[in-house]
Amino acid sequence: MKNKIEQIKKEFLDQLAKLKNIEDLRALELKYLSRKGELSEIMHGLKDLSLELKKELGELANKAKIEMQTKFTEARRVIESYGKKDDFVDVTLPGEKIANGHLNPLTLVQNDLEDLFTSLGFIIGDGPELESDYYNFTALNVPPLHPARDMQDTFYIDSKNKNGEYDLVMRTQTSSVQIRMLQKYGAPLKVIIPGRCFRNEATDARHEHTFYQCEGIVIGKDINFSNLKSLLEIVGKRLFGPDTELRMRPKFYPFVEPGNNGEYTCFLCNGKGCRVCKQTGWLEIVGAGLIHPDVLRAGGIDPEVYSGFAFGFGLTRLAMLKYGINDIRLFNSGDLKFLEQF
Ligand code: DAH
Repeated sequence: MKNKIEQIKKEFLDQLAKLKNIEDLRALELKYLSRKGELSEIMHGLKDLSLELKKELGELANKAKIEMQTKFTEARRVIESYGKKDDFVDVTLPGEKIANGHLNPLTLVQNDLEDLFTSLGFIIGDGPELESDYYNFTALNVPPLHPARDMQDTFYIDSKNKNGEYDLVMRTQTSSVQIRMLQKYGAPLKVIIPGRCFRNEATDARHEHTFYQCEGIVIGKDINFSNLKSLLEIVGKRLFGPDTELRMRPKFYPFVEPGNNGEYTCFLCNGKGCRVCKQTGWLEIVGAGLIHPDVLRAGGIDPEVYSGFAFGFGLTRLAMLKYGINDIRLFNSGDLKFLEQF
């Protein structure tokens, strides 16, 4: 009888150690610990024995029962903590591979520009995408009915201000943040403003209603055109390699005077002429110029004391050139096949 009790205990503990789910656990409880279980049966059989044996074996059986019950409760706690049935963790199995995210190509180019400009002492500014007509146009020398408004059609928001005017637009350019920065920080100032812009475009492979730009402003005493030129040269070499050259050609932008287009040696053909640079050997990359005195004034800066320059890159265009992306619409497509390449 003694041996039988030991054997039942051993069997029970062996099986308990192998359990994986709550169903097996219940079956084991029924078989060994319930009122009709093996141990109860033995205890039942004790009644026919001598008083001495009854005492000795009864104690033994009781001790075994307590031990089994304790181990059982422990095992149940562990198994229940697995949560679901069969949710057994085998730590020796190879782990599940976690997919890595990718930085968007625009973010990569933006990070690169931010690194460059902060290393040159610029701060990074920000402004709203839903902008007032004033900051996006009027304060930048483009009053209502000015023909320059035709260059940048946008989305007007269908809500009037207290004067009964529709004065909210989706900003067409990061230049809209120029005045905000002047008003906020005053002079002297070195800031870049990367961000998303919008235009009412008929979309095709080169035109999109939503795209990114990066604006820059430098304000100080005696800031002149050669400061602008040398900065744009540094930027070109950083973006396209040390042999990159810059040429600047006059172009009208209402908020700068003189305004111009900065063009860099085409890095794809090294200036020989190819399809991307339309056989010219030059890539039009940046609009720039000396900030118009009226714009400085609108920002609360005295043009008799301070001067400055501004420039604006198409971030989306830079990303397209850098990664050879031939359709601008891919950026807004949300297509993982496109995004996972970067
Ligand atoms: N905002 C202009 C555009 O979207 C680009 C630009 C031109 C920015 C000249 C400037 C600038 O700051 O000086 O076409």
